[in-house]
Amino acid sequence: MKNWKTNSWRKYPVKHLPEYQDKKELDQVLNKIKTFPPLVFAEETRHLKKQLSDVSDGKAFLLQGGDCAESFAEFNPDNIRDYFKVILQMSLVLTYSASLPVIKLGRIAGQFAKPRSAPTEKQGDKELPSYLGDNVNGIEFSEKARKHDPKRLFKAYSQSAATLNLLRAFSHGGFADLKKVHLWNLGYIKKSPQAKKFKELEDKIAGALAFMDACGINSEFNRRLKTVNFWTSHEALHLPFEESMTRIDSTTGEYHATSAHFVWIGDRTRQLDGGHVEFCRGIENPIGIKCGPTSKPEEIVKICNLINPTNEKGKITLISRFGHDNVGKFLPKLIRGIKKEGVNVIWSCDPMHGNTIQSTTGFKTRRFNNVLKEVKDVFSVHQSEGSYAGGLHIEMTGQNVTECTGGAKNIQDQDLSSRYHTHCDPRLNADQALELAFLISDEIKKNSSYSKNAIQAAS
Ligand code: PEP
Ligand code: CO
Repeated sequence: MKNWKTNSWRKYPVKHLPEYQDKKELDQVLNKIKTFPPLVFAEETRHLKKQLSDVSDGKAFLLQGGDCAESFAEFNPDNIRDYFKVILQMSLVLTYSASLPVIKLGRIAGQFAKPRSAPTEKQGDKELPSYLGDNVNGIEFSEKARKHDPKRLFKAYSQSAATLNLLRAFSHGGFADLKKVHLWNLGYIKKSPQAKKFKELEDKIAGALAFMDACGINSEFNRRLKTVNFWTSHEALHLPFEESMTRIDSTTGEYHATSAHFVWIGDRTRQLDGGHVEFCRGIENPIGIKCGPTSKPEEIVKICNLINPTNEKGKITLISRFGHDNVGKFLPKLIRGIKKEGVNVIWSCDPMHGNTIQSTTGFKTRRFNNVLKEVKDVFSVHQSEGSYAGGLHIEMTGQNVTECTGGAKNIQDQDLSSRYHTHCDPRLNADQALELAFLISDEIKKNSSYSKNAIQAAS
């Protein structure tokens, strides 16, 4: 293809890559990873791309969510299960209200590497390399932990494989059966208003299933009632790792990043002449591009054309993350720029990364109301521009954390220290994530074009 190799990104300027002292050890680890199995299979990636082309046509909705940064410390089966429960609940809320299929895409099983605002961190008189994600170094503020250690890449690969294995088992082994929807509730949110609303939805679904059962349509008859497709994604930041996971699909001869079904380019690494864009233009996977206040519409168009020269639908997802006060200022221009050039994209909204602030108690946080406002504004801009707000990209967890303020439990700045566990940015807890799903379902209901698309999709 087009003068591209898995390592051609090395000839371009690249930002936010770790510097390893022991290059030999890095090569040894990467060579080992090259011989290990892919995490995902090319045919799955094509399947996802086909589903994303439905989003591009307004016939489905994309839900992408998970940790800001996965960690070795928080890796355990209960956390994966609880995360998956929230994703299933959010999807159900959205599917039910919009009568649209929801594509479930995790920020999981590979979301480790982080770009940081500064290469070093200072505490008192001491200055150490910044934490770059558990696949690079440790979060503890010590010389030993902050050293870039290539062995961590292999540990992250192994954790991703085990995580994905459990998620595949949940998706296809009966956990996602619509008959078991009551089991998706998390104990700690049972008393919240969201849980009450979800219970009403459960009852409606139970009624619909009983009716279908009486008509002979049940999960024995149609496996789709008891299985779901769940896909994985992460930021394609650590290019040496991504290169070692990129393989030729023997059935088509095309290159696929096999570290995840979908990868995205972050807001800080989307330079047109940079290594990250170069890497992503060669792989067949669907690609996300984060768009922030510094994105120029003409530049985004050029990146899209470079990565997707055939203008294939479902290939590119633009993930806007302007901040709650900035949507009106930036999004309409971007939509118009993309439309003018006839570029096919999915419009997804990340209401998290433009809304990160410092709490009065010194924690990095996000105000839930600001998150809601950005989502609402994004929906209303798309409605007035005649484009389809087709996706949501969030940082969330199934754990009962106190990282973002507000929401039904009205978490305050003083409460943040109680259960603040994130390894990077603050995540929505299950209550807040579900509240957001209900809000979006209201927005979708308000917007008549969604019902029109839903009808077209059903016919
Ligand atoms: C992220 O998604 O964790 C991230 C760093 O986002 P952005 O590139 O949009 O800042
Ligand atoms: Co983040």
